Amino acid sequence: MYVSRLLLESLRSPRPRSCKQGIAASPQVSLRYFIHTFGCQMNAHDSERMAEVLRTHGATQASTLEDADLIVFNTCSVREKAEQKLRSEVGKLLPLKRARPDLVIAIAGCVAQQEGERLLKSIRHVDLVIGPDNLAELPALVVAHQAGAPPAVRTVFDLDNPEFLQAAPEPGTVPASVLVTTMKGCDERCSFCIVPTTRGPERYRPSSAIVDEIAQWVAAGALEVTLLGQTVDSYRDPCLAPPSSDDPDETQFPTLLRLIASKVPGLARLRYTSPHPRHATESLARTHGDLDVLAHHVHLPVQSGSDRVLRRMIRRYTRQEYIERTTRLRRFRPGLTLSTDIIVGFAGETDQDFAETLSLIAEIGFTSLFAFKYSPRPGTPALRLGDDVPEAVKSERLARLFELSEAQQRAHLQSLVGTTQTVLIEGPSKSGNMVQGRTQRNEIVHIGEARHLAHLAHGLVEVRIERANKHSLVAYSVANSETKPHRFLPLLQERQS
Ligand code: SAH
Ligand code: F3S
Repeated sequence: MYVSRLLLESLRSPRPRSCKQGIAASPQVSLRYFIHTFGCQMNAHDSERMAEVLRTHGATQASTLEDADLIVFNTCSVREKAEQKLRSEVGKLLPLKRARPDLVIAIAGCVAQQEGERLLKSIRHVDLVIGPDNLAELPALVVAHQAGAPPAVRTVFDLDNPEFLQAAPEPGTVPASVLVTTMKGCDERCSFCIVPTTRGPERYRPSSAIVDEIAQWVAAGALEVTLLGQTVDSYRDPCLAPPSSDDPDETQFPTLLRLIASKVPGLARLRYTSPHPRHATESLARTHGDLDVLAHHVHLPVQSGSDRVLRRMIRRYTRQEYIERTTRLRRFRPGLTLSTDIIVGFAGETDQDFAETLSLIAEIGFTSLFAFKYSPRPGTPALRLGDDVPEAVKSERLARLFELSEAQQRAHLQSLVGTTQTVLIEGPSKSGNMVQGRTQRNEIVHIGEARHLAHLAHGLVEVRIERANKHSLVAYSVANSETKPHRFLPLLQERQS
C-alpha cells in the first residue's frame, strides 16, 4: 500500500542531521492563485509560505476562487471528516474546470501525502498532488502543467536536506502574532495518529535560522511568536552536538527558548505548540520561571485520563506523570494555565476510562480544551484495536466533556473580572465597535470603546476586565474608567495607514 511504503521508506532513512538550508530554483509564473486551507496551524502556516513562494515567482493572489488560474486545497487528514469535506469541496469545482480547462487544481498537504496517485484517479479534475515537503516545487509544477505536462504527483520527504521555507515579512503588513516553524514531522507513534505518515520523521531547523526569522518578524512589527512543531519540545539543534546521555535535559528546546529571548529582546510574547508531555522536562519548567517573555499558558495534549487507554494509544506517559509535569510547570510559573487535546471513544474506552478523563480534566483545571471523537485512520497501528465505541456513545461523551470544560472555563473567566490584564491586541473583533486580543495567558479579550483604539493596528494595552462572556472577556480601556488614565505600554505600534 502506498501509505505504508512511504512510512517504511521514511523509517529506513537515517535521521538527518543536516543544517543546510536551500530552496529549489523554479521559473516565473504569471497567474492568480487562491489557497483554501483546512486543518491545523501547521497547515495555515504552510499555506502562507506557499503563497509567498508563488508571489516570489510572479503570481498574484486572486480575490475569489472563480477569479483564480490556480486553486490549491491545503488539506488535513487527521480525522476522516476533514478528508470528506475536502472531497466535497473539490467536487464542487467540476463545473468551473469544465468551463475553464486551463484552470489548475492542486491538492497539497496531508491528504495529498496520504493518497498520492489515488487522488488523481478518484478525482479526475485534479491536476497536481503535492506533499507538505514539496511546496517549494509548486511554481515549477504549475509551469510544466501549463506547458502540457500530464497531471503530476510529488510527495517525497526531504530527509537528507530538510527545507524550511523562510518567511519574508513585509514591514507594515505583518499581524501582531505570527507562527514560526522549528521542526517538521513526528517520531512518536501514537497508535491513533496519521501525522507520522503524512509528515514523515522529525527534522529540525537550525536555531540560527529560527532566531533570524523571528528577528525579521519583530523588526517588521510582529509582537508575538508561536513556535510550531508536532512535538515542539523534542527540538534538537541540527547544527549542535546532540545532548549527552547523562544530560538531564534530553532535548535542546529550553536552550532554544533562552536563545530566542536573549537574541530578540523586542519580542513581547513567546508561545509554542504542541509540546508532548514526555518532553516537558524540569529544565523546560525552569525556563518558564526564568523567562518573562514566555506566555503563562501551555497547550499540553493529554488525550485521555485513563492509564489503560494511554497505554493503548502509545502515549508513553501515565496519568500520574502528566499530573506531576503540569504541577512542576506551575511550581516554576505560578498562575500558568493549561489547555489540552482529548480523544473520546478511542478503541476499548469504557465508561470507567471516560470517567477518569473527566476527573483528570477537573483535577488539572484545564481552562480550555479541544476534544475529538476517535476517527480510525488508514495505516495507523490502532486499526487492529477496532472502533468499538458506538457513535452515539462518542457523541454523548463529547457532550459531557464539553459541559465540564465549559463550566471550568466560565468559572476561570469569571474569576478574572475586576483584574487588570495586559492584552496584546490582534485586530478588530468580528462584531461591533471593538478590538480583540489575548492576555499573557491565553484568554481572549474584546476591548470596547474602540474609537479610542482605532489608531492601533496592534499593541500591548493594560485594561480592566469588566465582564466575562462564555468563551472570552470584555474590557473597556482603563482611560474610560474615570479614575485611571489609559496606559499603553512602550511596545505599542501605530497603524501604518
Ligand atoms: N502533535 C500534534 C498533534 C496533531 S493532531 C500537534 O501539534 O497538535 C491534533 C490532535 O488531533 C491530537 O492531539 C489529537 O487529539 C487529535 N487526533 C489525532 N488523531 C486523531 C484521530 N485518529 N481521531 C481523533 N482525533 C485525533
Ligand atoms: Fe500524532 Fe502523537 Fe505525533 S498525536 S503528531 S503521533 S505526538
